[in-house]
Amino acid sequence: MDNTDQYILNFKGYNFNLPVVDVDFLENIEDFEIRDDDVFIVTYPKSGTIWTQQILSLIYFEGHRSRTEIVKTIDRVPFLEYNIHKIDFLERPSPRLFSTHLPYYLVPKGLKSKKAKIIYIYRNPKDVLTSYFHFSNLMAIIPVVGSLWFDHIKNWYKYRHDFNILFMMYEEMKLDLRSSVLKISHFLEKELSEEDVEAVVKQATFKNMKSDPKANYDDIIHKEVGTRNDGHFLRKGVIGDWKNYLTVEQSERFDRIFQRKMKDFPLKFIWDVNKE
Ligand code: PPS
Repeated sequence: MDNTDQYILNFKGYNFNLPVVDVDFLENIEDFEIRDDDVFIVTYPKSGTIWTQQILSLIYFEGHRSRTEIVKTIDRVPFLEYNIHKIDFLERPSPRLFSTHLPYYLVPKGLKSKKAKIIYIYRNPKDVLTSYFHFSNLMAIIPVVGSLWFDHIKNWYKYRHDFNILFMMYEEMKLDLRSSVLKISHFLEKELSEEDVEAVVKQATFKNMKSDPKANYDDIIHKEVGTRNDGHFLRKGVIGDWKNYLTVEQSERFDRIFQRKMKDFPLKFIWDVNKE
Protein backbone atom coordinates (compact mmCIF):
# COMPACT_ATOMS: atom_id res chain seq x y z
CA MET A 1 0.00 0.00 0.00
CA ASP A 2 1.61 3.26 -1.09
CA ASN A 3 -0.62 5.89 0.45
CA THR A 4 -4.19 6.46 1.49
CA ASP A 5 -6.60 9.32 1.69
CA GLN A 6 -10.26 9.18 2.56
CA TYR A 7 -11.48 8.01 -0.82
CA ILE A 8 -8.49 6.84 -2.81
CA LEU A 9 -6.13 4.01 -2.14
CA ASN A 10 -3.03 3.99 -4.27
CA PHE A 11 -1.94 0.37 -4.41
CA LYS A 12 1.04 -0.48 -6.60
CA GLY A 13 0.56 2.55 -8.80
CA TYR A 14 -3.17 2.12 -9.33
CA ASN A 15 -5.93 4.16 -7.67
CA PHE A 16 -8.74 2.23 -5.98
CA ASN A 17 -12.04 3.48 -4.64
CA LEU A 18 -11.15 3.06 -0.96
CA PRO A 19 -14.66 2.89 0.59
CA VAL A 20 -15.57 -0.13 -1.56
CA VAL A 21 -12.31 -2.01 -1.84
CA ASP A 22 -11.36 -4.88 0.47
CA VAL A 23 -7.73 -4.14 1.19
CA ASP A 24 -6.95 -7.66 2.50
CA PHE A 25 -8.39 -9.16 -0.67
CA LEU A 26 -6.37 -6.72 -2.76
CA GLU A 27 -3.14 -7.62 -1.04
CA ASN A 28 -3.67 -11.26 -2.01
CA ILE A 29 -5.33 -10.70 -5.36
CA GLU A 30 -2.40 -12.02 -7.40
CA ASP A 31 -2.88 -15.40 -5.76
CA PHE A 32 -6.66 -15.48 -6.15
CA GLU A 33 -7.30 -18.94 -7.58
CA ILE A 34 -8.43 -18.88 -11.19
CA ARG A 35 -10.53 -21.67 -12.67
CA ASP A 36 -10.05 -22.69 -16.30
CA ASP A 37 -13.60 -21.69 -17.16
CA ASP A 38 -13.57 -18.28 -15.44
CA VAL A 39 -14.42 -15.34 -17.69
CA PHE A 40 -13.26 -11.77 -17.07
CA ILE A 41 -14.46 -8.51 -18.58
CA VAL A 42 -11.58 -6.04 -18.40
CA THR A 43 -12.13 -2.35 -19.04
CA TYR A 44 -10.84 1.08 -18.31
CA PRO A 45 -13.82 2.75 -16.53
CA LYS A 46 -16.63 4.10 -18.74
CA SER A 47 -15.72 1.93 -21.71
CA GLY A 48 -18.72 -0.42 -21.80
CA THR A 49 -18.42 -2.57 -18.70
CA ILE A 50 -22.07 -2.83 -17.70
CA TRP A 51 -23.05 -3.34 -21.30
CA THR A 52 -20.76 -6.35 -21.53
CA GLN A 53 -21.96 -7.56 -18.12
CA GLN A 54 -25.45 -7.62 -19.58
CA ILE A 55 -24.31 -9.42 -22.74
CA LEU A 56 -22.50 -12.09 -20.72
CA SER A 57 -25.43 -12.50 -18.32
CA LEU A 58 -27.71 -13.02 -21.31
CA ILE A 59 -25.35 -15.46 -22.98
CA TYR A 60 -24.75 -17.59 -19.88
CA PHE A 61 -28.09 -17.54 -18.09
CA GLU A 62 -31.22 -18.80 -19.77
CA GLY A 63 -33.23 -17.25 -16.93
CA HIS A 64 -31.73 -13.85 -17.77
CA ARG A 65 -32.64 -14.20 -21.45
CA SER A 66 -36.18 -15.29 -20.67
CA ARG A 67 -36.50 -12.73 -17.85
CA THR A 68 -37.65 -15.44 -15.48
CA GLU A 69 -34.85 -14.88 -12.96
CA ILE A 70 -34.51 -11.53 -11.27
CA VAL A 71 -30.78 -11.28 -10.63
CA LYS A 72 -28.93 -8.02 -11.20
CA THR A 73 -26.07 -8.05 -13.66
CA ILE A 74 -23.73 -6.76 -10.95
CA ASP A 75 -24.41 -10.01 -9.07
CA ARG A 76 -24.02 -12.17 -12.15
CA VAL A 77 -20.77 -10.54 -13.22
CA PRO A 78 -19.40 -8.93 -10.04
CA PHE A 79 -16.31 -6.75 -9.91
CA LEU A 80 -13.34 -8.69 -8.63
CA GLU A 81 -11.81 -5.73 -6.79
CA TYR A 82 -15.11 -4.08 -5.78
CA ASN A 83 -17.18 -6.91 -4.39
CA ILE A 84 -19.90 -4.60 -3.11
CA HIS A 85 -22.43 -7.36 -2.41
CA LYS A 86 -19.84 -9.53 -0.66
CA ILE A 87 -20.31 -12.51 -2.92
CA ASP A 88 -18.38 -15.59 -1.87
CA PHE A 89 -16.26 -16.07 -4.99
CA LEU A 90 -14.84 -19.37 -3.77
CA GLU A 91 -18.28 -20.94 -3.37
CA ARG A 92 -19.55 -19.64 -6.67
CA PRO A 93 -20.48 -22.30 -9.21
CA SER A 94 -18.57 -22.44 -12.48
CA PRO A 95 -18.36 -20.80 -14.85
CA ARG A 96 -17.68 -17.70 -12.79
CA LEU A 97 -18.02 -14.36 -14.54
CA PHE A 98 -16.10 -11.32 -13.28
CA SER A 99 -15.58 -7.70 -14.20
CA THR A 100 -12.46 -5.73 -13.43
CA HIS A 101 -10.77 -2.43 -14.17
CA LEU A 102 -7.38 -3.76 -13.04
CA PRO A 103 -4.23 -3.13 -15.02
CA TYR A 104 -2.57 -6.24 -16.47
CA TYR A 105 0.06 -6.44 -13.73
CA LEU A 106 -2.43 -6.64 -10.84
CA VAL A 107 -4.71 -9.42 -12.07
CA PRO A 108 -4.50 -12.91 -10.56
CA LYS A 109 -1.45 -14.78 -11.84
CA GLY A 110 -3.61 -17.79 -12.72
CA LEU A 111 -4.96 -15.89 -15.73
CA LYS A 112 -1.60 -16.45 -17.36
CA SER A 113 -2.39 -20.15 -17.72
CA LYS A 114 -4.32 -18.80 -20.75
CA LYS A 115 -7.27 -21.06 -20.04
CA ALA A 116 -9.62 -18.57 -18.43
CA LYS A 117 -10.95 -16.03 -20.91
CA ILE A 118 -10.68 -12.27 -20.91
CA ILE A 119 -12.73 -9.83 -22.95
CA TYR A 120 -11.08 -6.41 -23.08
CA ILE A 121 -13.47 -3.64 -24.11
CA TYR A 122 -12.01 -0.34 -25.24
CA ARG A 123 -13.65 2.91 -26.30
CA ASN A 124 -12.38 6.09 -27.91
CA PRO A 125 -10.91 8.04 -25.00
CA LYS A 126 -12.65 11.33 -25.77
CA ASP A 127 -15.96 9.59 -25.10
CA VAL A 128 -14.46 7.87 -22.05
CA LEU A 129 -13.49 11.29 -20.74
CA THR A 130 -16.95 12.71 -21.45
CA SER A 131 -18.69 9.76 -19.82
CA TYR A 132 -16.41 9.92 -16.77
CA PHE A 133 -16.99 13.68 -16.45
CA HIS A 134 -20.75 13.16 -16.27
CA PHE A 135 -20.43 10.18 -13.98
CA SER A 136 -18.30 12.08 -11.49
CA ASN A 137 -20.83 14.92 -11.52
CA LEU A 138 -23.63 12.45 -10.90
CA MET A 139 -22.17 10.48 -8.04
CA ALA A 140 -22.15 11.95 -4.53
CA ILE A 141 -18.61 10.72 -4.03
CA ILE A 142 -16.64 9.18 -6.82
CA PRO A 143 -12.92 9.32 -6.64
CA VAL A 144 -11.48 9.12 -10.14
CA VAL A 145 -10.08 5.64 -9.92
CA GLY A 146 -7.65 3.94 -12.20
CA SER A 147 -4.45 5.03 -13.78
CA LEU A 148 -3.63 6.59 -17.11
CA TRP A 149 -5.92 5.40 -19.89
CA PHE A 150 -2.85 5.13 -22.13
CA ASP A 151 -1.08 2.76 -19.73
CA HIS A 152 -4.13 0.58 -19.30
CA ILE A 153 -4.82 -0.15 -22.95
CA LYS A 154 -1.23 -0.13 -24.16
CA ASN A 155 -0.04 -2.58 -21.56
CA TRP A 156 -3.01 -4.91 -21.81
CA TYR A 157 -2.32 -4.97 -25.53
CA LYS A 158 1.44 -5.34 -25.15
CA TYR A 159 1.08 -8.32 -22.81
CA ARG A 160 -1.89 -9.84 -24.67
CA HIS A 161 0.05 -12.99 -25.52
CA ASP A 162 0.29 -13.79 -21.80
CA PHE A 163 -3.49 -14.13 -21.68
CA ASN A 164 -6.41 -15.69 -23.53
CA ILE A 165 -7.87 -12.36 -24.53
CA LEU A 166 -10.33 -10.91 -27.03
CA PHE A 167 -10.21 -7.16 -27.75
CA MET A 168 -13.60 -5.64 -28.52
CA MET A 169 -14.35 -2.05 -29.40
CA TYR A 170 -17.32 -0.23 -27.84
CA GLU A 171 -18.02 1.55 -31.12
CA GLU A 172 -18.15 -1.70 -33.07
CA MET A 173 -20.60 -3.08 -30.54
CA LYS A 174 -22.67 0.04 -31.03
CA LEU A 175 -22.53 -0.09 -34.82
CA ASP A 176 -23.19 -3.82 -35.11
CA LEU A 177 -24.40 -5.36 -31.87
CA ARG A 178 -25.42 -8.64 -33.45
CA SER A 179 -22.00 -9.34 -34.95
CA SER A 180 -20.39 -8.34 -31.67
CA VAL A 181 -22.59 -10.73 -29.69
CA LEU A 182 -21.68 -13.51 -32.11
CA LYS A 183 -17.99 -12.69 -31.83
CA ILE A 184 -18.19 -12.75 -28.03
CA SER A 185 -20.21 -15.98 -27.88
CA HIS A 186 -17.84 -17.62 -30.34
CA PHE A 187 -14.83 -16.62 -28.24
CA LEU A 188 -16.60 -18.00 -25.16
CA GLU A 189 -17.40 -21.22 -27.05
CA LYS A 190 -21.05 -20.68 -26.22
CA GLU A 191 -22.92 -21.35 -29.40
CA LEU A 192 -26.39 -19.84 -29.23
CA SER A 193 -29.50 -20.68 -31.22
CA GLU A 194 -30.79 -18.02 -33.60
CA GLU A 195 -33.59 -17.31 -31.14
CA ASP A 196 -31.12 -16.89 -28.27
CA VAL A 197 -28.99 -14.50 -30.31
CA GLU A 198 -32.08 -12.41 -31.00
CA ALA A 199 -32.93 -12.34 -27.29
CA VAL A 200 -29.39 -11.31 -26.32
CA VAL A 201 -29.23 -8.54 -28.93
CA LYS A 202 -32.66 -7.23 -28.05
CA GLN A 203 -32.02 -7.04 -24.33
CA ALA A 204 -28.54 -5.58 -24.70
CA THR A 205 -29.61 -2.46 -26.59
CA PHE A 206 -29.18 0.83 -24.76
CA LYS A 207 -32.90 1.48 -24.78
CA ASN A 208 -33.84 -1.87 -23.30
CA MET A 209 -31.07 -1.83 -20.71
CA LYS A 210 -32.06 1.65 -19.63
CA SER A 211 -35.53 0.48 -18.72
CA ASP A 212 -34.40 -2.82 -17.18
CA PRO A 213 -33.75 -2.47 -13.42
CA LYS A 214 -31.50 -5.56 -13.43
CA ALA A 215 -29.23 -3.97 -16.00
CA ASN A 216 -29.34 -0.21 -15.52
CA TYR A 217 -27.75 0.17 -12.05
CA ASP A 218 -30.19 2.91 -11.07
CA ASP A 219 -30.94 1.24 -7.73
CA ILE A 220 -27.28 0.79 -6.98
CA ILE A 221 -26.24 4.35 -7.66
CA HIS A 222 -29.29 6.08 -6.21
CA LYS A 223 -30.08 3.81 -3.24
CA GLU A 224 -26.81 2.10 -2.33
CA VAL A 225 -24.07 4.54 -3.30
CA GLY A 226 -25.63 8.01 -3.39
CA THR A 227 -26.00 10.57 -6.18
CA ARG A 228 -26.13 14.35 -6.51
CA ASN A 229 -28.90 14.48 -9.08
CA ASP A 230 -31.39 12.14 -10.71
CA GLY A 231 -29.12 11.27 -13.66
CA HIS A 232 -28.52 7.75 -14.86
CA PHE A 233 -25.61 5.37 -15.18
CA LEU A 234 -26.88 4.67 -18.68
CA ARG A 235 -26.53 8.27 -19.79
CA LYS A 236 -26.47 8.55 -23.60
CA GLY A 237 -24.66 5.51 -24.93
CA VAL A 238 -23.58 7.10 -28.19
CA ILE A 239 -20.44 7.55 -30.25
CA GLY A 240 -18.96 11.05 -30.43
CA ASP A 241 -20.75 12.83 -27.58
CA TRP A 242 -17.36 14.41 -26.79
CA LYS A 243 -18.04 16.87 -29.60
CA ASN A 244 -20.73 18.44 -27.44
CA TYR A 245 -18.30 19.05 -24.61
CA LEU A 246 -14.74 19.57 -25.82
CA THR A 247 -13.82 22.86 -27.44
CA VAL A 248 -11.90 22.74 -30.70
CA GLU A 249 -8.74 23.73 -28.79
CA GLN A 250 -9.24 21.01 -26.18
CA SER A 251 -9.88 18.45 -28.86
CA GLU A 252 -6.78 19.44 -30.82
CA ARG A 253 -4.67 19.30 -27.70
CA PHE A 254 -6.11 15.87 -26.97
CA ASP A 255 -5.24 14.77 -30.51
CA ARG A 256 -1.64 15.91 -30.15
CA ILE A 257 -1.17 13.95 -26.93
CA PHE A 258 -3.00 10.95 -28.33
CA GLN A 259 -0.86 10.87 -31.47
CA ARG A 260 2.33 11.11 -29.46
CA LYS A 261 1.36 8.46 -26.92
CA MET A 262 -0.37 6.06 -29.29
CA LYS A 263 2.14 6.22 -32.11
CA ASP A 264 2.63 2.66 -33.39
CA PHE A 265 -0.39 1.35 -31.48
CA PRO A 266 -2.17 -0.92 -33.97
CA LEU A 267 -5.79 -0.98 -32.76
CA LYS A 268 -8.05 1.46 -34.54
CA PHE A 269 -10.48 3.86 -32.87
CA ILE A 270 -13.79 5.26 -34.01
CA TRP A 271 -14.31 8.84 -32.83
CA ASP A 272 -17.41 9.72 -34.71
CA VAL A 273 -20.23 7.81 -36.37
CA ASN A 274 -19.54 9.48 -39.68
CA LYS A 275 -15.80 9.11 -39.93
CA GLU A 276 -13.22 6.75 -38.47
S1 PPS B 1 -18.12 1.79 -15.31
O1 PPS B 1 -18.44 2.82 -14.27
O2 PPS B 1 -16.72 1.78 -15.61
O3 PPS B 1 -18.62 0.48 -14.97
O4 PPS B 1 -18.88 2.33 -16.62
P1 PPS B 1 -19.06 1.49 -17.97
O5 PPS B 1 -20.19 0.56 -17.81
O6 PPS B 1 -17.75 0.95 -18.40
O7 PPS B 1 -19.43 2.63 -19.02
C1 PPS B 1 -20.63 3.37 -18.96
C2 PPS B 1 -20.90 3.90 -20.36
O8 PPS B 1 -21.37 2.82 -21.19
C3 PPS B 1 -22.62 3.21 -21.75
N1 PPS B 1 -23.47 2.04 -22.01
C4 PPS B 1 -23.95 1.73 -23.25
N2 PPS B 1 -23.74 2.31 -24.45
C5 PPS B 1 -24.38 1.76 -25.52
N3 PPS B 1 -25.21 0.71 -25.44
C6 PPS B 1 -25.46 0.10 -24.25
N4 PPS B 1 -26.29 -0.94 -24.19
C7 PPS B 1 -24.79 0.61 -23.09
N5 PPS B 1 -24.80 0.28 -21.77
C8 PPS B 1 -23.99 1.16 -21.15
C9 PPS B 1 -23.21 4.14 -20.69
O9 PPS B 1 -24.29 4.86 -21.18
C10 PPS B 1 -21.98 4.97 -20.37
O10 PPS B 1 -21.60 5.86 -21.43
P2 PPS B 1 -22.16 7.36 -21.58
O11 PPS B 1 -21.36 7.94 -22.73
O12 PPS B 1 -21.87 8.09 -20.30
O13 PPS B 1 -23.61 7.26 -21.89
